[in-house]
Amino acid sequence: MTGILYGVGVGPGDPELVTVKAARLIAEADVVAYHSARHGRSNARACAAPYLREGQAEIRLMYPVTTETTDHPGGYRGALDDFYAGAAEELAEHLTAGRNVVLLAEGDPMFYSSYMHMHKRLRGRFECVVVPGVTSVSAAAAATGVPLVEADEVLTVLPGTLPEAELRRRLADTDAAAIMKLGRTFPTVRGALQGADRDGSARYVERASRPDERVLALADVTAADVPYFSTVLVPGRINAPAAPSVPRGEVVVVGLGPGDEAWTTPEVRHELSEATDIVGYRTYTDRVRPRPASACTPRTTGSRPSVPGTHWNSRPEAPGWRW
Ligand SMILES: C[S@@+](CC[C@H](N)C(=O)[O-])C[C@H]1O[C@@H](n2cnc3c(N)ncnc32)[C@H](O)[C@@H]1O
Repeated sequence: MTGILYGVGVGPGDPELVTVKAARLIAEADVVAYHSARHGRSNARACAAPYLREGQAEIRLMYPVTTETTDHPGGYRGALDDFYAGAAEELAEHLTAGRNVVLLAEGDPMFYSSYMHMHKRLRGRFECVVVPGVTSVSAAAAATGVPLVEADEVLTVLPGTLPEAELRRRLADTDAAAIMKLGRTFPTVRGALQGADRDGSARYVERASRPDERVLALADVTAADVPYFSTVLVPGRINAPAAPSVPRGEVVVVGLGPGDEAWTTPEVRHELSEATDIVGYRTYTDRVRPRPASACTPRTTGSRPSVPGTHWNSRPEAPGWRW
């Protein structure tokens, strides 16, 4: 009789977030397997450590590449395909010999996990059982303390590896978002959030549920320090924290009329009274003068006053800035 492959989700980091079922299966397994990057560490194994039993065989499936370049003839994709095929055969040997294998998956096995590559290769030959786990998105939302989606709100999960324009487009089209796979992608992700005007309410969550968990506003994140195990959450608008008020300007184009000040419309006068900077050809800006009572002082940019680009800096609340 052949063994069973269990794809077991072990949650986002805190071993207490491993489900009762996962803990039991880990303890009962003949063989416990896990993926790791070339550094050899495995977060999934760290989550499962309290539930491992003496004498269990362990298999570390070490990726030959992560984001590095490779000299494999098939490139990055070819190197991964070979690795997955070899790893599947290594597990298949144990399954064929009748041993039950638990393959640990950080978070949930069916949610951006390495487990699925083994599942797809082995499910036709062996019984494969998937045990769901707490995802990193759930743990990150818990860490922020802000409800992620409510009522009819739509949540979009985005890999940070997408191009900036694609991220921006999708952020503009959703109520809430979880952006995963950060690290070196962070500057792109931050750019997309700013471009979609969603940066103010976004929260960065690093190593959710672990002792070194951090939650930061986007503006407080140093891009060079962002690890892979971090996620950005944009809560739906119902619960989005008020964005820090970033003063944003606007450009208003006004026509002054054909000559006499009396021909300037009330609407244009209003806009001029609100403006903090007035820009235009000197011929025109000369026609827009603050009243003597105004605290606003015209400022000419550039070394030559005749350049077309005269700014008048004023404060909107300045007394006497009327027309
Ligand atoms: C390959 S995916 C694995 C997702 C995992 N299967 C799950 O269910 O959450 C890796 C990405 O998940 C996110 N992630 C995983 N664990 C995390 C944690 N503890 N805190 C924040 N983000 C995490 C990060 O965005 C990371 O780049």
